[in-house]
Amino acid sequence: MGVDDAEALWRWNHDADVMRWMDEGYAETVAQVAKWLEERPPNAYGDVLFGVEAEKTLIGLVRLHGAEPEVGLADMDIYLGEKDFWGRGFGTDTVRAVCLYGFRKMRLRKITLTVAAENVSAQRVYRKVGFVEEGRLRGTFRDAEGRWADKLTMGLFESELTPTS
Ligand SMILES: CC(C)(COP(=O)(O)OP(=O)(O)OC[C@H]1O[C@@H](n2cnc3c(N)ncnc32)[C@H](O)[C@@H]1OP(=O)(O)O)[C@@H](O)C(=O)NCCC(=O)NCCS
Repeated sequence: MGVDDAEALWRWNHDADVMRWMDEGYAETVAQVAKWLEERPPNAYGDVLFGVEAEKTLIGLVRLHGAEPEVGLADMDIYLGEKDFWGRGFGTDTVRAVCLYGFRKMRLRKITLTVAAENVSAQRVYRKVGFVEEGRLRGTFRDAEGRWADKLTMGLFESELTPTS
């Protein structure tokens, strides 16, 4: 991923269908996204970011962050910004691949995530890969109508990772 991808990231970050499930703010202009791509530090144990590519197109981003070797835990985030690629298994393949990377290369013990309780398609992906629901964070997610809704916490140990079907 490089500065040339700034326009795609900017487009995704301004797409309400993509962003309705995300809870972070994003840079506003293509120039700001390009600056972020240019100045982003290289991947390190505590923050690993990968571009997701399908059919020679960058379709999204996936990240493992907050990893600490002492405890072997990290959080995972994914979003596929190219909506034409949704529902074709790329999300499931990506989540499985990045979890394998976390367990095998980073020697993580456990991968955790939070997901909006209303985001059923993302939960479907996580459950398919083996994630288990662990808790409910009440009133922590602002939904598309501006209401405070719940998030779920999910976790995955290596032994729970499902094989490719
Ligand atoms: C969530 C996301 C990563 C999923 O990627 P994807 O490539 O579309 O996912 P897949 O095609 O691998 O699988 C989607 C699954 O959800 C299911 N699904 C889709 N819409 C659904 C719905 N409304 N209700 C129940 N299941 C649904 C699909 O049927 C499929 O399951 P199946 O294989 O058992 O049929 C992608 O849609 C995305 O990035 N969305 C926007 C941002 C986001 O939500 N990120 C996650 C934040 S925690």
